[in-house]
Amino acid sequence: MRTAFTTPDIALTARPAGELDADLLVIPVFEDDDLADLPDLDAAASGEISQARSRGEFKGKLFDLFTTSIGNGWKSQRAALIGGGVRAEFSTEHLRRIATIGGLAARQRRLSRIALLHRPTPGVTAAEAAQVLAEGICLANYDGASYKTEDRDQVWIARADVRMPDGIGGFDGAVARGRILGEFSNRARVLANEPGNTLTPRVFADRALEIGRSAGLQVEVLDEQRIAGLNMGLLLGVARGSQEPPRLVVMRHEPADAVPGAVLGLIGKGITFDTGGISIKPAENMDKMKDDMSGGAAVIAAMSAISRLQLPVRCVGVVPMTENMPGGRAIKPGDVLRSAEGKTVEILNTDAEGRLVLGDAIWYARHLGATHLVDVATLTGACVVALGKTTSGLFGTPPAWVERVRVASERAGDRSWPMPVFDDYKEQLKSEIADFTNTGGRAAGAITAALFIKEFTGGLPWVHIDIAGTAWAEEAKPYQPKGATGVAVRTLVELAADAPAWCKLDLNSRP
Ligand code: BES
Ligand code: MN
Ligand code: ZN
Repeated sequence: MRTAFTTPDIALTARPAGELDADLLVIPVFEDDDLADLPDLDAAASGEISQARSRGEFKGKLFDLFTTSIGNGWKSQRAALIGGGVRAEFSTEHLRRIATIGGLAARQRRLSRIALLHRPTPGVTAAEAAQVLAEGICLANYDGASYKTEDRDQVWIARADVRMPDGIGGFDGAVARGRILGEFSNRARVLANEPGNTLTPRVFADRALEIGRSAGLQVEVLDEQRIAGLNMGLLLGVARGSQEPPRLVVMRHEPADAVPGAVLGLIGKGITFDTGGISIKPAENMDKMKDDMSGGAAVIAAMSAISRLQLPVRCVGVVPMTENMPGGRAIKPGDVLRSAEGKTVEILNTDAEGRLVLGDAIWYARHLGATHLVDVATLTGACVVALGKTTSGLFGTPPAWVERVRVASERAGDRSWPMPVFDDYKEQLKSEIADFTNTGGRAAGAITAALFIKEFTGGLPWVHIDIAGTAWAEEAKPYQPKGATGVAVRTLVELAADAPAWCKLDLNSRP
């Protein structure tokens, strides 16, 4: 397989734009932008920029791209002007995307040294800019998996200079953080892109071990015997239909300077392929179900990034890994399974497997001392119907904890939005013979899935992030190639970074 990503060197600089020696100079340009801070740029481009603007070819509309060669004393060869839209509405997410567009534009033109000019706007602080520019550049340095035997050779961004107009003092940490967030988002993308035959549960666990340990985490892989020893009937039930044994990966981050009293529990759905089991899925698009471990990949990558950043909060990551297959020993509709916690579940649809494996994994995270829970899962088609392909669903309780996760996701550039988890919906999970069923019918399918998971949270603060729509990009965008997106990695890391603030809160008090 060809290389999937590299992480470039990124350096801050305060040198004038004309002195930056890069193959491509990336410049955000807004609507009605007088470019007063770059007075000789148009001359360096021999008037190309003013001409393009006056004939309406480039107006600074969001994410529009205009490239021109430059010279006349400027040291870089080419410039890429990227539309920033309306300056007053400009956000960190726009800037992150502009950096990615600039990076992708460079790579498409086989250019490997870029420089980015930060141009201050009201909505973005200098420290935020340094971080998201680094993130965006790293996110551009990623290619989807390829097993083509004749592949074009790849061009990577080897180096990026980020020019800060008001000095570079104090922003090295922001760049380092952005670089790690970009790198580990890419690691999650690589895992999620990998085919189901190469990334089996055992291989997935080995990769988690390797990634986590080299990032400084304690990692443990539980095999099928250990899983059976813990009576994880839900995880074992899903695994029964497969020839491949399940795994449970446990990662721990135990910093010496941790905030007191809080243990962040991160749980990720790790279904390496979801056929639906006996309730088998239609053939069309079933290939896509190789990404049903994106939540698990996000947890593994986020835990590793948290460790590399030495964030001062104890964290435990738990990822249940299995295939969902319709083998001869597979669970059947009507079967009853017993969870590790002891609750019984009547299986109505074997394709609702994610909530089953999460139930046992969340219980285990609690057992290991988690005080605050967040699970990430490609859980329901219903969530895609509700929120589409751009926004993840947030479900949980109490509302103050959901809000912390929402704010973290906004900072991360992972769009998400809260959905209700009213008790009224629980009726849909009533079973005649077990504690509850594993599906609640078509109505509010994303919510009943969340309510199922809630049964295993033991009343702890908990948020479930449904990434069924957001984990995979069906179409390329200027700032995002097709395939795995790495969604939720940065959200989880930003949430961990926010621990010194949320660990002190009484989440149950009303504002
Ligand atoms: N992995 C799927 C959810 C999914 C669907 C992810 C589409 C990405 C795109 C999940 O295991 C599943 O099959 N859910 C069922 C639940 C139903 C049987 C209650 C669904 O959403 O149809
Ligand atoms: Mn399924
Ligand atoms: Zn699934």
